[in-house]
Amino acid sequence: MIMKPLVIGDIVARVPIIQGGMGVGVSRSKLAGAVAKEGGIGIISTAQIGYDEPDFDKHQIESNLYAIDKHIKLAKEISEGGIIGVNIMVATKQFDRYVKAAAEAGADVIICGAGLPITLPELVSGYSTKIAPIVSSVKATSVILKMWDRKYKTTADFIVIEGPHAGGHLGFTKEQLEHINELDYDTEIKNIIECKKEYETKYQRKIPVIVAGGIFDQEDIKHVLELGADGVQIATRFVVTKECDASEEYKKAYLNAKEEDIKIVISPVGMPGRAILNPFMDKVKIDRIPVKKCFNCLEHCNPKDTPYCITKALIDAVNGNIENGLIFCGDNVHRLKEMTTVKAIMDELKF
Ligand SMILES: Cc1cc2nc3c(=O)[nH]c(=O)nc-3n(C[C@H](O)[C@H](O)[C@H](O)COP(=O)(O)O)c2cc1C
Repeated sequence: MIMKPLVIGDIVARVPIIQGGMGVGVSRSKLAGAVAKEGGIGIISTAQIGYDEPDFDKHQIESNLYAIDKHIKLAKEISEGGIIGVNIMVATKQFDRYVKAAAEAGADVIICGAGLPITLPELVSGYSTKIAPIVSSVKATSVILKMWDRKYKTTADFIVIEGPHAGGHLGFTKEQLEHINELDYDTEIKNIIECKKEYETKYQRKIPVIVAGGIFDQEDIKHVLELGADGVQIATRFVVTKECDASEEYKKAYLNAKEEDIKIVISPVGMPGRAILNPFMDKVKIDRIPVKKCFNCLEHCNPKDTPYCITKALIDAVNGNIENGLIFCGDNVHRLKEMTTVKAIMDELKF
């Protein structure tokens, strides 16, 4: 078996590997640019992307809008004409403005998770940006494709299937995640691939399917390609690279993580998330951490009763305060043994 390029309409990635968006600040221009330069698709997370802009403390939305434009353009430069996209969580406040800013800045693709991006086709209309929902079940796939078909007479340019081994927020219940081995996820992947075929026929175009979550080596890639996928999305492995935008302490936390340190945490997003056990996680298990300041991140978060401020926890982590921050990770983080480079990972995974 040889890897085929990933073709999304008129976009062709030499290597069918998408680097998954990682917020806050873990995948910005440096990481995304490096992955795209190696022939993959580099994804910038827009989640509080402007966290280190001088005005962020007072003007979060404007800082994020400025940083979206800045990082897309920087990543394009680094990638020397590679394919650059963004990951925008549906659950974020000002979702519409972030989508439009990314399309305007020239994002080649926009991938949306943490909710179903119902209005996405309308928001990118007039731009050549390709769009993809992140789904974890046939049910979610069917709902979003049906909605886009009915409402906008269009379909997805590609689909990202995120399985239960992924990092960050997960589209599964805590109970499902406690019994991962009992989930027959290969069948779910095949069913999702079946589900999109109706729309490929209707719209006379291919809808590539990308599988994410726990992809570690060539064998994992071959396995999902055999199931019928067209590519993979990988995040956790790219954190321990020279190019990753997180602090050195964050990367060290990944290298030091043991299998028993990987836990599920509740998140103000309303979905469970996977992260590395640390004093912060212990604290939120017992009690809520009162919010001193709201950074305007989530649409449905009430600072008065949220268990903790997810923006503060993620910014603390990316800046290297690894005891008091929230360190999202995929469940293969304990297999990472050394710092590496994006090129070394891409060379290792290509076949
Ligand atoms: C540190 C970290 C942060 C993440 N942040 C986001 C995010 O902001 N939005 C999102 O849709 N997915 C996010 N994810 C999920 C990844 O994009 C990706 O789909 C998933 O982690 C793939 O699984 P893997 O890490 O096992 O390769 C994050 C993952 C990690 C590890």
